[in-house]
Amino acid sequence: MSSQPMDTNSMTLTRFVLKQQRKIPTATGDLTQLLNSLQTAVKAVSSAVRKAGIAHMYGIAGTTNVQGEEVKKLDVLSNELFINMLKSSYTTCLLVSEENADVIKVDFEKQGKYIVCFDPLDGSSNIDCLVSIGSIFSIYRKQDAGDKRASIDDVLQPGNKLVAAGYALYGSATMMVLALGRGSGVHGFMLDPAIGEFVLTDPNIKIPAKGKIYSINEGYASVWDKSVVEYVQRKKDPKYGKPYGARYVGSMVADVHRTLKYGGIFMYPATTDSPSGKLRLLYECNPMAYIITEAGGSAVDGEIPVLDIIPSSIHQRSPIFLGSRDDVNEYLQVKKELKL
Ligand code: AHG
Ligand code: MN
Ligand code: MN
Repeated sequence: MSSQPMDTNSMTLTRFVLKQQRKIPTATGDLTQLLNSLQTAVKAVSSAVRKAGIAHMYGIAGTTNVQGEEVKKLDVLSNELFINMLKSSYTTCLLVSEENADVIKVDFEKQGKYIVCFDPLDGSSNIDCLVSIGSIFSIYRKQDAGDKRASIDDVLQPGNKLVAAGYALYGSATMMVLALGRGSGVHGFMLDPAIGEFVLTDPNIKIPAKGKIYSINEGYASVWDKSVVEYVQRKKDPKYGKPYGARYVGSMVADVHRTLKYGGIFMYPATTDSPSGKLRLLYECNPMAYIITEAGGSAVDGEIPVLDIIPSSIHQRSPIFLGSRDDVNEYLQVKKELKL
């Protein structure tokens, strides 16, 4: 029987972040601390997603566990984990969560200079059938470095001002993908359950310039605009080249991660019912656009780069077309041809 020797010098996420921090002589270590708190939240969500400690998740009667306590839904639990870990990291001042209508203010004595926007549990409709789900986050710095308190203007910065962005995918394995600043690349860390650490397995991910997959909820074809109808039609018509494969998980994190690894295009366009699409700018579109752009791909709202949009409210939505550069450009070209 052969056994693999253990790697005694593996690059954990904590170690990777520390190494990055050391490259910047003026760094205070706050971002490192913030990322550590996010890591803890993600590990705890991952454990809950894997149904570790089943008794704490499900009661025989359905809504209460064996101790008779009310069972928290996974998105509520994830939200509490993110909020508690971020507040207690002493590095954040304002938080925006998909689950909270208003901006969350961190107690003054615990405040730091960062603003974090997050979707604690993305793909909720896939929870009960055990299909991949995820968490998404983006990090801004308060515009005024001094003592001035952070305000809503610090939250409503365009995506091109992001300090970092990332997501966690709770798939057949748990992975965190991070982009820690412009030009620093996109890196993937897989959770090694044996040691409870994220280990660098996918350094410097680059998205293929062109893919073979299109990803969109085709059930809404009747409410798409003509450019989307025409583009998707061309992806299926051999007259325009080898037809693409169709894949749509319905969890943005899973669909975007596949697009990052294999290439292709992911679309959540505007529809006549929802003129701004469905996905939220601050904690879904921006972080994913930042990561895909940093990996060499592109992300547009149909007109301009997603990262250039100036937000006007915290839960605003945006249409999104992201993925391989050539595929996104081809969509824009079709739109131009149709003069839309
Ligand atoms: P959430 O679970 O955070 O509400 O987000 C679900 C989102 C996203 O993950 C996915 O891309 C999209 O909803 C799927 O929407 P449709 O079912 O309309 O295709
Ligand atoms: Mn979501
Ligand atoms: Mn969500």
